[in-house]
Amino acid sequence: ATEGQYVITDKKGEKQNVGFIQLNRRKALNALCDGLMKEVSDALDAFEKDKDVGCIVLTGGDKAFAAGADIKEMKDREFAEVYSGSFLSNWDRLARCKKPVIAAVNGYALGGGCEIAMMCDIIYAGENAQFGQPEITLGTIPGAGGTQRLCKAIGKSKAMELILTADRMTAQEAEKSGLVSKVFPIDQTVNEAIKTAEKIAGFSKITSAMCKEAVNAAYELSLQEGLHFEKRIFHATFATADRKEGMTAFSEKRKPTFTDN
Ligand code: CAA
Repeated sequence: ATEGQYVITDKKGEKQNVGFIQLNRRKALNALCDGLMKEVSDALDAFEKDKDVGCIVLTGGDKAFAAGADIKEMKDREFAEVYSGSFLSNWDRLARCKKPVIAAVNGYALGGGCEIAMMCDIIYAGENAQFGQPEITLGTIPGAGGTQRLCKAIGKSKAMELILTADRMTAQEAEKSGLVSKVFPIDQTVNEAIKTAEKIAGFSKITSAMCKEAVNAAYELSLQEGLHFEKRIFHATFATADRKEGMTAFSEKRKPTFTDN
């Protein structure tokens, strides 16, 4: 494992094909300061380049996944500075990741913490997880996708309620509303995320990237446009060696050997 100032990175799984990023600023409940988000971006750059890595797990600590943007760091910022510097725009690195990312969330996922979890492709939660967008208590609004992604994840009424009241949603409620796909005992969240990541990493990386791109298009496009886009990507799989290998292996009753081509 490599320990940065704010983030631990490692490779996990039997085949070392899972990129692992752990937010490690425990004393501040993983408040997402500029330095921390820079380390997350750098780790993602490295894992995207790493040909062995087929899936990434992002996690925090047992008490907090992340308690949001760093309030102390941003409290004295002025409009001109945040506007001209496009404050928080660099957080999009996570949303732009081509490889699938699983968030393993124990404890608080508040404000920016909830927002970066929602930038991931799958969210697993520990039983103690709490999701919320408490920005209104600070006189601001969610600024890293909360107003948009939460709506799409759980619908308008629930998203409005969380954003306007600053109330928190439990792991169980988050699962019921579709924000989270599974809930686990706290000490199993990360392992379960790694297990799922290993499974994903066992498939062709080019196919998983295509799956991800097509599913994400569902957020942006009308049904007709989305279906058209899907068909184009589906057809494009016929240009890959891995599509041929997958179907040939099935026909020959053997396991496929994918080469990510
Ligand atoms: N920024 C900076 N520091 C934070 C922080 C944050 N978001 N969240 C927690 N900390 C710090 C605390 O200041 C405290 O530091 P000190 O020990 O130096 O005092 C330390 O972490 C531990 O926190 P608490 O003592 O508050 O721990 P607690 O268990 O009593 O409470 C909590 C936990 C309910 C999560 C509480 O810390 C809290 O409310 N945090 C802020 C949550 C929040 O408002 N998040 C939204 C931020 S704005 C945002 O994210 C904008 C956006 O859309 C991107």
